[in-house]
Amino acid sequence: MPFQQQHIVITGAASGIGKALVLELAKYSCQVLAIDKDVAGLKQLLEELDNTKMQLQILELDLANLSQIQQLVPMALDKLGRIDLFFANAGIAMYGRFGSQDFKARQSQLMVNLVAPIEGLYQMLQVAKDNNFSYIITASAMSKTGMPNYAMYAASKAALDRFAECFRFENNPGCHLMLVYPIATKTDFFNGHENAPIPWPSQTPQKVAQAILKAVEKRKTAVYPSFLFQCMISLQLINKWLMYPYQIWHKPKTS
Ligand SMILES: NC(=O)c1ccc[n+]([C@@H]2O[C@H](COP(=O)([O-])OP(=O)(O)OC[C@H]3O[C@@H](n4cnc5c(N)ncnc54)[C@H](OP(=O)(O)O)[C@@H]3O)[C@@H](O)[C@H]2O)c1
Repeated sequence: MPFQQQHIVITGAASGIGKALVLELAKYSCQVLAIDKDVAGLKQLLEELDNTKMQLQILELDLANLSQIQQLVPMALDKLGRIDLFFANAGIAMYGRFGSQDFKARQSQLMVNLVAPIEGLYQMLQVAKDNNFSYIITASAMSKTGMPNYAMYAASKAALDRFAECFRFENNPGCHLMLVYPIATKTDFFNGHENAPIPWPSQTPQKVAQAILKAVEKRKTAVYPSFLFQCMISLQLINKWLMYPYQIWHKPKTS
């Protein structure tokens, strides 16, 4: 029973992949803190999960706002006492030509998709001391390959990928970091963007959530919920391993 008695934080939990994670975890006697800016969605989640083994709490935070990002782990710790698993899942995408997005739209994508997950990890490392924890970031297939009209979004997700690659060469023994690379997933993600087609292939948020939890159990560092996508980028993955000896050569002896 891997998630039994675990204290778990999930951001972007009111909808899509985050909500699917909460629903999957409701099978276990665990404590979950669901964070989102959508208070109505969080309250609905509370109602839906009224009679489950899980103890669910909710917290409204806007992760596009720096001062609220800085409160992320302190407020979560206040609610849960300790954190064993942290899903940095909230994310936003604006569809359209780069020049069509104003500064606020560009900034929001960077704050929610990139700054919040990285700062959340920083805060976890400060408070964890000797406690082990898993930190799971929902990146995207676009961390690996770009798509037209998603320049800012893909930039924020690709930066997470490179961050994780460097971080893993540092000495952080108590921290298990895993990145998730979903392909198009049928969530609210594509709503509200005129002319934004759902790219083929696509999958359900439940399938993504199940793949994530299975990978957490196995303590993987990367999860590709679509096997087809993993095959499509196989040469890229091989190239990454070719660089490994070079990276190890530059690894400091002590860090
Ligand atoms: N769906 C896909 O095709 C796809 C593919 C690859 C990766 N992903 C990634 O998967 C993650 C989850 O996305 P999803 O598909 O589940 O989308 P979703 O259904 O839109 O869910 C995202 C949740 O995050 C919340 N959120 C947005 N901005 C926030 C903010 N500033 N502060 C706090 N919460 C905020 C949203 O609230 P509101 O509803 O109020 O905006 C929503 O509840 C994201 O990181 C996304 O980039 C999605």
